[in-house]
Amino acid sequence: MNTVLVERRQRLMHFFSPGSIVIVPAAHHALRNGDVDHPWRQDSDFWFLTGFDEPDSILVLCPGRGGEEFILFVRPRDREAETWTGRRAGLEGAVVAHGAEKAFLIQDFEKELARLCEDAQEVAWVFGRDAAFDSLVLRAVRRHRTQPKLRINGPDRLTDLSLALWPLRLFKQPEEIAALRQAAEITAEAHHEVMRLCQPGRNESQLQAALEYVFLAGGGERVGYGSIVASADNATILHYTENRMLVPDGALVLVDGGCEVDLHTADVTRTFPANGRFSEPQRAVYDAVLAAQLAAIDACRVGRTFHDVHDVAVHSLTQSMVQLGLLHGEIDALIKENAFKKYYMHGTSHWLGLDVHDVGGVHDLTSTEAQKASKPLMPGMVLTVEPGLYIAIDDLDAPETLRGIGVRIEDDVLITDDGPDVLTRACVKLPDAIEAMVGNPPRWVKPVVL
Ligand code: GLY
Ligand code: MN
Ligand code: MN
Repeated sequence: MNTVLVERRQRLMHFFSPGSIVIVPAAHHALRNGDVDHPWRQDSDFWFLTGFDEPDSILVLCPGRGGEEFILFVRPRDREAETWTGRRAGLEGAVVAHGAEKAFLIQDFEKELARLCEDAQEVAWVFGRDAAFDSLVLRAVRRHRTQPKLRINGPDRLTDLSLALWPLRLFKQPEEIAALRQAAEITAEAHHEVMRLCQPGRNESQLQAALEYVFLAGGGERVGYGSIVASADNATILHYTENRMLVPDGALVLVDGGCEVDLHTADVTRTFPANGRFSEPQRAVYDAVLAAQLAAIDACRVGRTFHDVHDVAVHSLTQSMVQLGLLHGEIDALIKENAFKKYYMHGTSHWLGLDVHDVGGVHDLTSTEAQKASKPLMPGMVLTVEPGLYIAIDDLDAPETLRGIGVRIEDDVLITDDGPDVLTRACVKLPDAIEAMVGNPPRWVKPVVL
């Protein structure tokens, strides 16, 4: 019995009274093209509560219902299907290996949910993600209402489960922190390998291959999100994922990639000179972003807020924008008028965990978005700190030497009582250390020359 999972389910059930039904569906396969699927990965909420790694399954928690507090709906065992697509736990495995008190076949979900609803008052699931699933649940919930003679009303409260579940995911427990630390460590070494392998003339795709080779060979499970390998002015495209240009001499390379461990992802960006030497303008922009990042990381303290971290980065970056000749005017006015957004157009942080843009914006039921971002940071929260400066190549207002430069530096930070714990600190980011890393012989990967 996995006590961590038992404890998570108990903590979630404490939010609900007896007579509630909590439903969490697993991820489906998604078709890519023809009969080829996208790589499958479990739904984060479902994994958080079950550790069950199969598609087409559903978790149902019924607090206080004897013998049916923890129900799993699963695919049936099927010798032929398992020969083609892999092993299944089946009904017995769901109970014996995964601790379900009761297991049903997935095809019986609607019928069994309708039965559970007969004497339930409240049904909770995360609405609005999957219209077909929403309809399925509503059909089961309403089944008895359409038969008034049965005198069964069924539940009269539908609750968005994210309000109870996502705050639990916001505060990381020791097991989650351990997974994030391991993902961070592998990711740091993967970024180092990209720096070592890089030289002008390499394709961005070769660097992506090296990054993701170290992710998997180093013990990661998969990428946590599509890797970005953006050289030269590709780095000014925030979510560039083409990754197939030859890296020009004299260019910077921005790499944003992180691997997953136990489905928890790192999220790291490093920017380095392809030939191992920052030019003067590149170094000036790099130093500006680094100063903003160090200041923002220092603001990741108990009692400060998510907003504060962004404000510190924006203040530092706006000062630098004036020094670099990108903006002209008085700092506070430039911030108030959002002038900085021309060169720094994204937020500084997001929560990090099972999802790269992790859940957690929802602290409670009553706050506005602005109030939520003003809540104090607390131990166990993990967020990224990722300021950047992006100067479009055709920005005729910018000094010519700065055009086409994009720099972002991103680390993952755990809030602790003792200050910010930078989980990704192993990854080099001081300019001298970066220059010393680039162009060293690769440690793990060889260039492929056919
Ligand atoms: N890799 C996506 C992000 O940094 O938010
Ligand atoms: Mn990020
Ligand atoms: Mn990132």
